[in-house]
Formats: sequence, structure tokens, C-alpha cells
Amino acid sequence: MKLSENTILITGGSNGIGFELAKQLLTLGNTVIITGRNLSKLDEVKTKYPEIQIFQSDAAKPDDIKSLYDDVTREFPGLNVLINNAGIMRKMNLHDSSLDLENINQEIVINLSGPVRMVNQFLPYLKTKKHAAIVNISSGLAFVPFAISPVYSATKAGIHFYTQALRIQLKNTNVEVFELMPPLTNTKLQNAFSMEDLRGATPMEVDKMVKFAIRGFSTDTLEIRPGQSNLLRIMSRLAPHFILKQMSRPVDSLLEQPVNPVVLPAWAESSNRT
Ligand SMILES: NC(=O)c1ccc[n+]([C@@H]2O[C@H](COP(=O)([O-])OP(=O)(O)OC[C@H]3O[C@@H](n4cnc5c(N)ncnc54)[C@H](OP(=O)(O)O)[C@@H]3O)[C@@H](O)[C@H]2O)c1
Repeated sequence: MKLSENTILITGGSNGIGFELAKQLLTLGNTVIITGRNLSKLDEVKTKYPEIQIFQSDAAKPDDIKSLYDDVTREFPGLNVLINNAGIMRKMNLHDSSLDLENINQEIVINLSGPVRMVNQFLPYLKTKKHAAIVNISSGLAFVPFAISPVYSATKAGIHFYTQALRIQLKNTNVEVFELMPPLTNTKLQNAFSMEDLRGATPMEVDKMVKFAIRGFSTDTLEIRPGQSNLLRIMSRLAPHFILKQMSRPVDSLLEQPVNPVVLPAWAESSNRT
């Protein structure tokens, strides 16, 4: 992928990895457009970096994706790179009754349905460009689940398989499909976790991780696995049970914490007693 003179749309660019990608890709001579849900965070970016273009848009909402498509392609017809970065990660005790049917699905709607819908909306446009690329951000957790974040891990395994399939279906087009699989990276995403939860993993600094990613884009490395993500891939093949056990260590302390218990309806309670 060429590294300059692109017009790049990054979902979730007001913080963390998306923001760092925006800054580094801007420096390389690209037009960079970012999205996010929180307008004041986007305005802060715009104040510091007036060249970065901002659009308030929620990757979980199909109507937002449609209007984003109309606005971006009208204002930036050169658009040729889509980076699906927006994501959330939660620690989750599956015994907790406060996880209702809407709540339990949040990571799926943002991390998995978001990129799938974005690709569906933007792909026909990208195919009209001479050089185009889609970058999906998954995670090293696509190889081994982190059991205290079960739904998040499922979304990252899902986006990994989707990206492989997308790449194969686009093999006869001008659209390159990259997957960036970050390891634990020092961003606000990790705020939900304690030091104990993350024991054994050394977070990578975000500027270093993004430099690694950009090197991968420049060498057309389609699956980019910085640092411990590559290790997780190797371990998931050589010693899958061992690495799953290692990654599951924080579960015991999660299960010791009190949660709102699930209350069964009366008919289910009584049928259990018979
Ligand atoms: N940090 C890590 O250790 C790590 C490791 C592996 C993979 N990743 C992946 O890397 C990506 C970026 O993570 P990060 O660490 O940079 O997280 P972050 O620092 O929390 O930043 C997330 C960004 O996404 C935006 N966002 C969240 N939900 C959104 C939505 N529904 N629509 C649009 N924007 C949304 C946030 O802005 P608003 O809240 O204003 O919307 C923010 O700009 C995620 O896909 C994450 O899963 C991170």
C-alpha cells in the first residue's frame, strides 16, 4: 500500500490507536478523516490538529454509517482507504443479571457488525479507485480468548475470520485487505482492567505499535501481528491448552466478586424442584 497521497477514513479516531494512526498517517502526507461518538473529543482533536477532518458518527448505527458515507464521499471524493478501528472492550461476568439482552450485545454491534456494515457500505466506492485498501483492526485475542472479556474475544475472532474471507473475495479487485492485530497497547481501552488482570502482558506503547503497523502497510504485510500478538498466534498453535489456561488466570478473582444474581421466573424455580 502506498503510504502517502491517500484519503483515509478511520473510525474511532479521537483516542488511542485510531488517533495515533491519524497523526502518523497525516505526517506522511495523507488526508485523514476520523469519526467518534463524542463530539467534544473530536473537537479537541480538531483544535490540536486542524488538518484532521472530523465526523461525529456511531459505528454501531446503520443510519450513521449511511450518512457518513454520503458526507465523506461528497466532501472527500478521493477516499481510498477505510480503517475500521472503533471498538470497546469490557470485563464481563456472565453470571451477572445486569447484562440484559441489549447490554450483552454491545461489543458485537460495535466491534463486529460495525466493520461488516462499514465494508458493505463503502466497498463499491473503494472498488472504483485505482489503489484502495481496507484495514480491519482485530487483536491478538483473535487467537486465544481472554476469558474475562468473553464477548470481546468472540468479536475479535469473528473479525479475523471475516477479514480473511473478505480478502479472498476481493482477490481480483484493486482493494487490498489488511488486518492489524494489536497486542495489549497502552490506551484508555485497558481502563476496565486491573494490574492483576493484565499480569504477564507488557503493554506496547501506542506510537511504537502504530509505527509497526505502518511498516506493515508499506511492505504489504496483510496480517500485521506486532509483539505479543505474534506470540499468541504461535502459542495457540503449539500449546493451545497451556496458553488458554494462562489467559484464563484472572477468571477466579472475577468469579469471587459479587454480582446481581440471575433470578429465574417462579415457574422455572418450581419445575426445578420437581
Ligand atoms: N488497546 C489495546 O490493548 C488493543 C489491543 C488489541 C486491539 N485493540 C483494538 O484497537 C481498536 C482501538 O482501541 P483503542 O485501544 O485505541 O481504544 P480507545 O483508546 O478506547 O479508543 C477507542 C476509540 O473508538 C471510538 N469509538 C468507540 N466506540 C465507537 C463507536 N460505536 N462508533 C465510533 N467510534 C467509537 C472512541 O471514541 P468515542 O468513545 O467518542 O466514540 C475512541 O476514539 C479497537 O478495535 C480495539 O479492540 C486494542
